[in-house]
Amino acid sequence: MQVLKAKFAVQLSTMNYHTRKWVKPEDLNPNQSLFGGRLLQWIDEEAALYAVIQLENKKVVTKFISEINFVSSAKQGDIIEIGIEVTSFGSTSLTLRCEVRNKMTHQTIITVDRIVMVNLDENGSPFPHGKTQVEFVKDRIKLKE
Ligand SMILES: CC(C)(COP(=O)(O)OP(=O)(O)OC[C@H]1O[C@@H](n2cnc3c(N)ncnc32)[C@H](O)[C@@H]1OP(=O)(O)O)[C@@H](O)C(=O)NCCC(=O)NCCS
Repeated sequence: MQVLKAKFAVQLSTMNYHTRKWVKPEDLNPNQSLFGGRLLQWIDEEAALYAVIQLENKKVVTKFISEINFVSSAKQGDIIEIGIEVTSFGSTSLTLRCEVRNKMTHQTIITVDRIVMVNLDENGSPFPHGKTQVEFVKDRIKLKE
């Protein structure tokens, strides 16, 4: 039963781990572990890239990031993976969830339940993006053929 539940959970997850980072000396804090500010920078950039591609608009900004809880860390030389999934499409916003895990220790480093990105127009005002579901670039290419 436990195994069945685990399989089901895996199938339901839509978290995409597109990006890996190698923890280098310049990414460390005085405790010689991964500096939190660096990790937040990587997460914010990953969320922005994801939103820009999904919403097909370069002018997307971070509006809101929910509570952050560093549950484990990484050391120099570790490889970490940043995962993003969509939790909801709003009118002008896109809400994402993020999970970062340590590829070496298999531990979760951080989860961020809500990252709200807002789609902007040329003047920097919120603008409806018209999207309601996750799109894959390969399907967009097929549609244009
Ligand atoms: C993003 C910005 C244009 C939004 O302006 P605003 O007056 O809050 O706009 P709105 O009230 O129309 O809200 C826009 C969307 O954000 C959502 N939103 C606004 N405040 C929010 C909050 N505190 N938490 C979650 N979502 C929020 C709204 O629900 C709306 O989404 P929807 O259209 O899908 O329903 C403005 O706040 C801004 O320029 N902020 C600075 C952004 C920035 O510089 N980010 C850091 C660098 S990327």
